[in-house]
Amino acid sequence: MPSDPIAPTAPAEGDDPFIPAAGTRLSGLALGIDVGGTGVKAALVDLATALLVSPRVRERTPQPSTPEAVAQTIKSVVAKVLEGVDVPADLPVGCGLPGVVKAGRLRTAANIDAGWVDWPAEERIGEAIGYRSWIINDADAAGLAEVAYGAGQGKSGTVILLTIGTGIGSAVFLDGNLVPNTEFGHLEMHGRGAETLVSGAARERRKLGWKRWAREFNAYIARVELYFCPDLLIYGGGVSKEWAKWGRWSETTAPVVMARFLNTSGIIGAAYAAAAAHTADSALSQAQADALTA
Ligand code: BGC
Repeated sequence: MPSDPIAPTAPAEGDDPFIPAAGTRLSGLALGIDVGGTGVKAALVDLATALLVSPRVRERTPQPSTPEAVAQTIKSVVAKVLEGVDVPADLPVGCGLPGVVKAGRLRTAANIDAGWVDWPAEERIGEAIGYRSWIINDADAAGLAEVAYGAGQGKSGTVILLTIGTGIGSAVFLDGNLVPNTEFGHLEMHGRGAETLVSGAARERRKLGWKRWAREFNAYIARVELYFCPDLLIYGGGVSKEWAKWGRWSETTAPVVMARFLNTSGIIGAAYAAAAAHTADSALSQAQADALTA
């Protein structure tokens, strides 16, 4: 694994992942996949309600987590989700990945094999599962789910979601619009990337009790607040489920709420982003066809 801090490779020109605008409402089905450092999860999502309409299938992330190996796990997880289910051939599929996403590829890889950097992920994942797929940063996906359907719905101002798990992922919204690919888990603390000290995995690795960890996490959040002055903080990821164990020591200026979709926000947000991208692509194709016949 590359050391922290990480430097993104140069992106292809102007090619961010497709980001739905604030307030985008969608309906129909989409498939969401969430690739994490420990598990690959997927489910079918009803976009009108954000409810999962299939079982949530999970398999362990292969080690080493090379792109080819993970693509095979994605294929297997998706096959289980879609077993016996009738879905359209153009079912939108979104996949959240733990790194900076530009032009269909990861530009960084802190908690996944370094072979992901520059690998044509969007294309190869689509080929592996047989559906057009869109990739997005995992924390951005989780943030989109919370802002579209959950704890961040209708919130104006600066909203920051942090996923605190194997690493620390971030998603920043201004008036409901995502600023993609922020990497607040890599803010510097004591000369290192913060997630190597205060992520959920770091807490376990360092054998910190909740009180001690919460104090260190407070110092990290103080830095996030100093730099970005959020109006609302949303905590997701494994550590947010343990709020009852550490919430009493949490100190922030902005109000804190837990993510509404604890295990599933990454899946829901990836499905939502893919469906929005699919809708935009279809509208574009239709406009091009109309222009030709005009
Ligand atoms: C990655 C982020 C990711 C986060 C959570 C970090 O190490 O750099 O892109 O969102 O882990 O998975």
